[in-house]
Amino acid sequence: MKRPVSDALVFFGATGDLAYKMIFPALQSMIRHGHLDVPIIGVAKAGWGVEQLRQRAHDSLSEHGPVDDEAFAKLVSLLDYVDGDYAEPATFDELAARLKGAQHPLHYLAIPPSLFPVVVDELARSGCAKGARIVVEKPFGRDLASAQALNKTIHAVFAEEDVFRIDHYLGKEAVQGLFVFRFANRLFEPVWNREHVRSVQITMAEKFGVAGRGSLYDSLGAIRDVVQNHLLEVLALLTMDAPDSAGHTEIREKTAALLERVKPLSANAIVRGQFRGYLDEQGVKPRSNVETFAALHLEIDSERWRGVPFLIRTGKKLPVSCTEILVELRSPPIAEFENDTGDLVRLRLSPDLEIALTTQHKKPGEAMEAEPVEMSFVQRPDGVEMTAYERLLGDAMHGDPTLFAHQRAVEAAWTIVDGVLDMKTPVIVYEPDTWGPSQAEALAEPVGGWHDPEVQP
Ligand code: BG6
Repeated sequence: MKRPVSDALVFFGATGDLAYKMIFPALQSMIRHGHLDVPIIGVAKAGWGVEQLRQRAHDSLSEHGPVDDEAFAKLVSLLDYVDGDYAEPATFDELAARLKGAQHPLHYLAIPPSLFPVVVDELARSGCAKGARIVVEKPFGRDLASAQALNKTIHAVFAEEDVFRIDHYLGKEAVQGLFVFRFANRLFEPVWNREHVRSVQITMAEKFGVAGRGSLYDSLGAIRDVVQNHLLEVLALLTMDAPDSAGHTEIREKTAALLERVKPLSANAIVRGQFRGYLDEQGVKPRSNVETFAALHLEIDSERWRGVPFLIRTGKKLPVSCTEILVELRSPPIAEFENDTGDLVRLRLSPDLEIALTTQHKKPGEAMEAEPVEMSFVQRPDGVEMTAYERLLGDAMHGDPTLFAHQRAVEAAWTIVDGVLDMKTPVIVYEPDTWGPSQAEALAEPVGGWHDPEVQP
């Protein structure tokens, strides 16, 4: 059944960081591509008027744009602003008035998760939730219990088909490329299992620090910020069983089913780190022991993957910015050909897209010796067409849930990390521009150490 297209877009947190970095650029692009022509209402508590919000949009695009004069003029003409406290009914009565009878508004909650319940309740009370859709930012909840409670709060007002849980990684070209790589090829599927795969590593490294988001980051830490969502989604796409089709219900079922087979993390399977200098960041609590680095060893308890080590590592202030997967295959059929670099599949998701294969070839010369050669057969810059936010906002406005996280997967992902949240393991200080605490090395020792992605400066 064709679903109605949203006839207004409301975004809470209009003066915040996410709106500044992601939402204004996405809105301008949607307008430029002819995908957005409905009232856009920002909501925040800043004591501002619409003129200040327009200026903010301009500043945002000057920094993260560029400004496209024609599209920006249109954005300005569509943009409205409601200033007020989220706990005040008057804010939502004003919003209802500005919506001027829109039948299917889309409410985007670009605000801290702690505010979701009050906003959802007020949307319902004021009538703004009628016929509406809601988009919530990750992380969805703070742990399994709060994610379940939040889901209940949202479902009291919105039907599941109208709830869109954003995890912008799912909207990335590169991450969707993983699905196509897995299931549009014949070559890899027969070896994609414990019989042929020795180990898998996923590294999401960021050279920058908390980039002005000290207070928000300090309420999250790396596990809640990127592991529970982005990296476990990547793991699921990389290892899931083939769905019957590329339809969203099938993909969601298979990714959730995979996550449900991942064993919950125990304290000895994780190393948490914090970069030196983090405590001086604005908004960070004086003695915070929130992690800015995490390295984990996961196991998938399934027929396909039992016994294969999955190593995940992420951190801020690491030597490079790069997200890369490395799948190492088992020994070759003839022992003499074994060497330190076995056959590898390397999938780079950012800063550019790359699929590369390392295979063994005859070393020139008399001896029958093999040497590893890497062939890179897809290489292109990431995100040329459409940013993840543009794609996801457009999909939500059309009621298309394909690229949004489903509650079942969200809960499965929380179940994996729940036991190691909230500083249950020590946090170890590491120097900026290094690969995190040395203790992380021990986790990867059984697979010959971490593979550090190389990025051209
Ligand atoms: C966000 C995290 O969800 O993803 C950030 O909150 C992180 O801490 C970012 O830097 C990474 O996303 P991208 O698209 O910039 O690689």
